[in-house]
Amino acid sequence: MPIIAPSLLAANFSNLKAEIDSITNGGADWLHLDIMDGHFVPNITFGPDIVAALRSNSNLTFDVHLMISRPEDYISAFAEAGADYISVHAETCNHLHRVIQQIRQAGCRPAVALNPSTPLYVLDYILEEVDMILLMTVNPGFGGQSFIPAVLPKINDLATKLRKNNHKDILLEVDGGITPENAGKVCQAGANVLVAGSAVFGKSDRSAAIKELRQGAEF
Ligand code: DX5
Ligand code: ZN
Repeated sequence: MPIIAPSLLAANFSNLKAEIDSITNGGADWLHLDIMDGHFVPNITFGPDIVAALRSNSNLTFDVHLMISRPEDYISAFAEAGADYISVHAETCNHLHRVIQQIRQAGCRPAVALNPSTPLYVLDYILEEVDMILLMTVNPGFGGQSFIPAVLPKINDLATKLRKNNHKDILLEVDGGITPENAGKVCQAGANVLVAGSAVFGKSDRSAAIKELRQGAEF
C-alpha cells in the first residue's frame, strides 16, 4: 500500500489549517510541501516560517520538496521549521553528496529529486546516503499539469536499480499529475510514495479522493 502525500500547493491558501485537517481526517499519510523560489522554477510559494506555523498544528510527516537554487543555504531553516523529509533537486546542487549529509546532520531524512529529463546515473554514488528518491512526473513549478508517461520506464529502471543494489529501504516517490487513473501504473512500476495535489485538494471530499487514489494504486 503506497504512502499518500497530498501536496499543499493545490490547497486553499487562505485556510491552510482547515485544509490540513481535512486531509488528516481523510486518511493522508504525509503532507507534501512545495517550496519554490522563482529562480530554479518559475513560480514562488512559501518559506520556512509558513512550514513552522503549520508544524505547530499538525502531526503529519512533513515532506518538504525544495525547488530552489542554493538549497544548502536553507537546509537548517527548514529543519528547524519541522521538516521530516527534505528533498533537494540534483540539478540545483554543485555538491550533492555534501548537501545530503547536511540534511542528515540537521536531523532530517534526505531525499534527492530528479526532473523528468535528468538521467538516473546522477544517483550512482549517493544511494547509500539517501532515504528517498523523488522522480518528477511533470516539470516542476506548477500544480495541475499532466503526467509525463515517458517517466514510467524511468520509475521501473530506478526500482530495478534499488532492488539489485539491496536498497529496498529507499522510498521511491513520484510527484506531478498523479491521479487514481495512473496510480496503478506508477505503483506497478515501483513507486511507493504518491504525491497528489489536484487529485486530493482539487476535490471537495478529501477522504473520498484519498480512498480513490488508494484503490487506483492497486494493481
Ligand atoms: C510540482 C510540485 C508538485 C505539485 C503536484 O512542481 O512539485 O508537488 O504540487 O500537483 P499535481 O498533483 O496537481 O500535479
Ligand atoms: Zn512537489
